[in-house]
Amino acid sequence: MAREDIARKARRLREAIAHHDRKYYVEDAPEISDAEYDALVDELKAIEKAHPELVTPDSPTQRVGDQPTKVFPPFRHAVPMLSLDNTYSKEELIEFNDRVARFLGLEVREYVVELKIDGVAVALRYEGGALRVGGTRGDGETGDEITANLRTIRSVPLSVKADGEGLAFEVRGEVYMPRKAFDRANEEREEAGEPLFANPRNACSGSLKLQDPREVARRQLDAFFYAYLPGRGAPAFPTHDQGLEFLRTLGFKVNPNIRVCRGVEEVIKVCDSWEERRDALPYEIDGMVIKVNDVALQERLGATGKSPRWAISYKFPAKQATTKLVSIEVQVGRTGTLTPVAHLEPVPLGGVTVKRATLHNEDEIRRKDIRIGDRVILERGGEVIPKVVGVVTSVRTGHEKRFEMPKDCPVCGGRVVREEGEAASRCTNTSCPAQVKRTIEYFGGRSAMDIENLGPAIVSQLLSKGLVKDSADLYALTEEKLVSLERMGEKSAQNLIAAIQGSKDRPLSRLIFALGIRQVGVRTAEILADRFHSIDALRHASTEDLESVEEVGPIVAQAIADHFLEPRNVKVLEKLEKAGVRMKEERKLPPKTGQTLAGKTFVFTGTILISREEAAAMVKAKGGKVTESVSKKTDYVVVGEDPGSKAAKARALGVATIDENEFRRIVGA
Ligand code: IVH
Repeated sequence: MAREDIARKARRLREAIAHHDRKYYVEDAPEISDAEYDALVDELKAIEKAHPELVTPDSPTQRVGDQPTKVFPPFRHAVPMLSLDNTYSKEELIEFNDRVARFLGLEVREYVVELKIDGVAVALRYEGGALRVGGTRGDGETGDEITANLRTIRSVPLSVKADGEGLAFEVRGEVYMPRKAFDRANEEREEAGEPLFANPRNACSGSLKLQDPREVARRQLDAFFYAYLPGRGAPAFPTHDQGLEFLRTLGFKVNPNIRVCRGVEEVIKVCDSWEERRDALPYEIDGMVIKVNDVALQERLGATGKSPRWAISYKFPAKQATTKLVSIEVQVGRTGTLTPVAHLEPVPLGGVTVKRATLHNEDEIRRKDIRIGDRVILERGGEVIPKVVGVVTSVRTGHEKRFEMPKDCPVCGGRVVREEGEAASRCTNTSCPAQVKRTIEYFGGRSAMDIENLGPAIVSQLLSKGLVKDSADLYALTEEKLVSLERMGEKSAQNLIAAIQGSKDRPLSRLIFALGIRQVGVRTAEILADRFHSIDALRHASTEDLESVEEVGPIVAQAIADHFLEPRNVKVLEKLEKAGVRMKEERKLPPKTGQTLAGKTFVFTGTILISREEAAAMVKAKGGKVTESVSKKTDYVVVGEDPGSKAAKARALGVATIDENEFRRIVGA
């Protein structure tokens, strides 16, 4: 082939690959298979190998350089990179709108509302239509020049589409790590025994600071662009959304969820709807950004200090915060499990002040390399108790202390063991005061014997005054004994005694649950009561008998047998019986005829006209069963008004979904 032909061929290949990169990484709409794509790249590589003089800086083969950088050179911003003022409520958004109107002397008609991507802000400069340099925000005036790392991001165009040829302009946007890439990175770190990233943002900023672009390329970062700054010769647009549209036509990845809103009311609606849906996105957002759409108005509004007057962020309630880990206390639970609990410098998080957080167990602390004195990152997800998700290692002083699980129980000094294959360490002394206290609290709990007003403070006093030594002693309490407790009036004493006495006649299943047998929850307790009808029968059941019960496996069976082997537990049972606590239950009648629903499982979701209890009774009367969650084994999911995710799950699993009428027909109501 003639030299010019080879050069032309190389150029065509480069253009084709850039086109398919855009289709795949920017538009998420690939046109060719991976194999076809690889063939194009291989062909280009072969030509470039034979003719190194044909390699251009914007060749797709040049994304990942192999020259590690020692220090990143400074990257000066021609136009300062401002940050945004934050708002946290609808009221503040309305104030922002009022402020803008006052300043301009007119109501703003259009706002652009965008997702606030939780990543790292970057700026990229294009000249002659090709990427020249890129850097981080830094202090807004000067950042780090990290062009080599930014080039590894496949959605960052190395050169732009035809419309942008020859143009000079800057784009700004957010580099982020998608949730999937974050999970993958942490899995790898876990395997390598390295401390985990606390969140995708930390992982992203850590990745961009890496000195070897080959390493950065492996992190699968991505980017969205949200600002266009035209340079010499480049077209300017009267509105922000037109600028973004132009970026899109040049091949930049612009977030598809951008909305032009008329008036602040609509802005608030859009913010609300994303606050609800944010978890469904494949990347994290920490709020919304609201921008005046009209560029001339933006210019009139200008900036104050470090933030523009024409834009504001609406931050979702924080799910994360950082604070100092002051100390680690080891708590002993009902079954002797030792749980390390973090004591923190108080910090606001998602509307409450957090002072403590669970650290789960020893392995978890080691895995996250959490040390006493560290600045830790807290997170509150769906659950109420916050957890420590990571450490800000960059501010370590060297005085932080590693945590050791105590060899002896911190409460009773008893021996602590950690069994093979278990994450938890346990105090082996069953008379450990901490275990006894928790056992009594549990015994009186809502799902157990339901003794009203028997809170932790009262149990503590009862134990310290020697008035009780186990759960059964509760029944020997008298009003006279109770009034000696702090803050216990005559009336409260009477009420508590009445509640204790009233609990003697609870259904057998509650007593079984209240005993606190390991592995036996509310549901297993019900099944056991149904099958054995008395504590005595349960106590003397062999492990084979126990394992023959539906939903009882070998681990549960062993836990039950172990419980009744412990002399302390047997003594409690004897005392309970003497006190007159109901220990057995009438045998239920043998199955009736007409059990048309025997073996059928129902799940309810949403609101139906009859109560759930009634509905469940109807199913049971016909020999069927009601469970909480949908699985392949479910026969019917009854879908009421406003159904939850169970309806969708049923459809996904191919389980029959029926409405209330159909349900009534099936149960013959
Ligand atoms: S506009 C002058 N739009 O949020 C306007 N920022 O302090 C500057 N961010 O780290 C920013 N998504 O990188 C804008 N759609 C978006 C954004 C966004 C995320 C980041 C930005 C900066 C912070 C604002």
